[in-house]
Amino acid sequence: RVQPLVDTLQRPLRDLRISVTDRCNFRCRYCMPEEMFGSNFRFLPQDKLLTIDEITRITMIFVSLGVSKVRITGGEPLLNKEIAEIIRRISHIEGVNDLAITTNGSLLKQNARALKDAGLKRLTVSLDSLNDERFGKLNGRGFSAQHVLEGIEAAANEGLTVKINMVVQKGINDQDIIPMARYFKERGHTLRFIEYMDVGNSNGWNVGHVISNKCIMQTIHEKMPLEPVESNYYGEVATRYRYQGSNEEIGFISSVSQAFCHSCTRARLSAEGHLYTCLFAAEKVDLLGSIRSGATDNEIMSIISGVWKMRQDRYSDTRRDQTSQRVKVEMSRIGG
Ligand code: GTP
Ligand code: 5AD
Ligand code: SF4
Ligand code: SF4
Repeated sequence: RVQPLVDTLQRPLRDLRISVTDRCNFRCRYCMPEEMFGSNFRFLPQDKLLTIDEITRITMIFVSLGVSKVRITGGEPLLNKEIAEIIRRISHIEGVNDLAITTNGSLLKQNARALKDAGLKRLTVSLDSLNDERFGKLNGRGFSAQHVLEGIEAAANEGLTVKINMVVQKGINDQDIIPMARYFKERGHTLRFIEYMDVGNSNGWNVGHVISNKCIMQTIHEKMPLEPVESNYYGEVATRYRYQGSNEEIGFISSVSQAFCHSCTRARLSAEGHLYTCLFAAEKVDLLGSIRSGATDNEIMSIISGVWKMRQDRYSDTRRDQTSQRVKVEMSRIGG
């Protein structure tokens, strides 16, 4: 490409996050509360979902526009029976330099080998507590943390690099901060703390539920001294630290207290093929609709580049003025 594609704030398009299902076997309160996503909830029918061929084709088009980093999300992506084939196809696309998946880990134990064989090198597991009682409540379905930990171990045994994401909610799982840090330090997996965000329209968020990462960092530092690590790449979401005298790392994703919109290079594709340019977007563009009505690669390319050139999103920078007034995409549609 001659000219890099940038948006109105000069941010290049570098990452694509693809949701491969809108379903999940958990009902985390902050994402898919049972009252909203109960047995009457209508998930997308199969024929509305992106097929593997469509996912592959769209990814190749994004790569030709500058994307080199791809993340597979859900809902829960391992509920998609074709997940290994999706990974295999994307990992073979020239120009995809980094491919990862974000999962709740509940089905990881039985899938780790197949994911590895398909070409996956790393993944991120969401886990908010090691305590079975708290974790069972957090996931809304009584799943045990032990089971997720076994999944993590299975993935690590296959040689996959595993990161852990922990969303911290004040008064809900703050007591798990130190146990989580200890546990994953010992096992050599990077744990990242995510500030609780006002995603979607149903999680009843207010700023009083947030514990700032600065505060979490200090809590850990008092017990296990930390030192900063240089960021890996432009637009890295997590601020990284190392436990002094070791190679074990820990990270902080502070989108509430320290927004990182200024370097946000991420596009998101929902399982039904809608393109979103922000985690908090109200609007979307129906790429799958265009594809199924026969658009050529060039036509899809110009739709995407048109959207990106117009992009102005910087929700986290302006959160204070907007959170309750705006209809947002549900997190379970675009996988975080
Ligand atoms: P690496 O590729 O391993 O560096 O992962 P990452 O830093 O991109 O992290 P990951 O994709 O696991 O994202 C972790 C979490 O950070 C997400 O689940 C979201 O909660 C949050 N996050 C990621 N991207 C954004 C973003 O663009 N905006 C906001 N506000 N939050 C984000
Ligand atoms: N705030 C911060 N992170 C969230 N996630 C889901 N909902 C929220 C929220 N309200 C995280 C999940 C998972 C990733 C997909 O996004 O815990 O790690
Ligand atoms: Fe499922 Fe992840 Fe949402 Fe929890 S946060 S309900 S595991 S998609
Ligand atoms: Fe990017 Fe939107 Fe998140 Fe800001 S709030 S970092 S623009 S996804």
